[in-house]
Amino acid sequence: MNTFIQKAKKSHYAIPQINVNGLIWIECILKAAEKTRSPIILGTTDKVIDFLGGYDFICKTIKNKVKSMNITVPVIIHLDHGLTLEGCKKAVDAGYDSVMFDGSKLPIDENIAQTKVIVDYAHKHHVIVEGEVGAIGGNEDGVIGNVQYARLEDCIRLAKEANLDTLAPALGSVHGKYQGEPNLGFKEMEEIQEAIDIPLVLHGASGISDEDLVRAIKLGHAKINFNTEINIAWSNQLRQTLTNDQNIFNPQQILNPSKDAIEETVVQIIHKCLSNNRA
Ligand code: 13P
Repeated sequence: MNTFIQKAKKSHYAIPQINVNGLIWIECILKAAEKTRSPIILGTTDKVIDFLGGYDFICKTIKNKVKSMNITVPVIIHLDHGLTLEGCKKAVDAGYDSVMFDGSKLPIDENIAQTKVIVDYAHKHHVIVEGEVGAIGGNEDGVIGNVQYARLEDCIRLAKEANLDTLAPALGSVHGKYQGEPNLGFKEMEEIQEAIDIPLVLHGASGISDEDLVRAIKLGHAKINFNTEINIAWSNQLRQTLTNDQNIFNPQQILNPSKDAIEETVVQIIHKCLSNNRA
């Protein structure tokens, strides 16, 4: 799986990570990826894993869908913001291709130590690991945080000492809706990518301009995470469908237009990440 992300870094595009928020997301994301010939990452955030049916259920369901839909583009199943060592190990055992351990709230020595335990376990099972330094701001599934820029020396230490595959350095991006204009730390991004050669991951991409996304890709970001943008498109369409017909109650009639909205938004994201026709 790492080779796909390394290839993206080398060729200056990013593989989009789209967060899965329910079963209909899976089909829509896969359709969009196949249609545009883009490699794709389906992310499940640890905070909503029970809502999604658990690690094993959601991982097997995605794999079954890939098979039944005859998907031919590379699909990576990723645990987003893994909160505990136990949860990350469960995801590895369930068959995920990639896990993120989010030790960013821990002191750096502890973040390194715990991330390393996951890396050792995951690598034995050919699963890749993403780590995080600093604090991505905003609201991630109920967890509110403020932006705290990643320190260069912490990034270097976590990447090297934990033997990471990908690194998410917090550099001003925010989960959820931005208040005001996003202000990414491009100078810091440049320093980090010069110091470490593993691909970088940009969280909180919804609301970041197309130009800034391309700039981040040029500065080593080869995986870019989107959640809010798709949820807004889905919920806007759902509201509109229900408002347009006050008597509608058939679930498929209600949900089908919002499925199209998810698919269309993912297609747009793929183009922003320059990953179309890269499969
Ligand atoms: P957004 O919800 O801001 O798109 O962020 C998604 C994300 O970073 C998931 O880890």
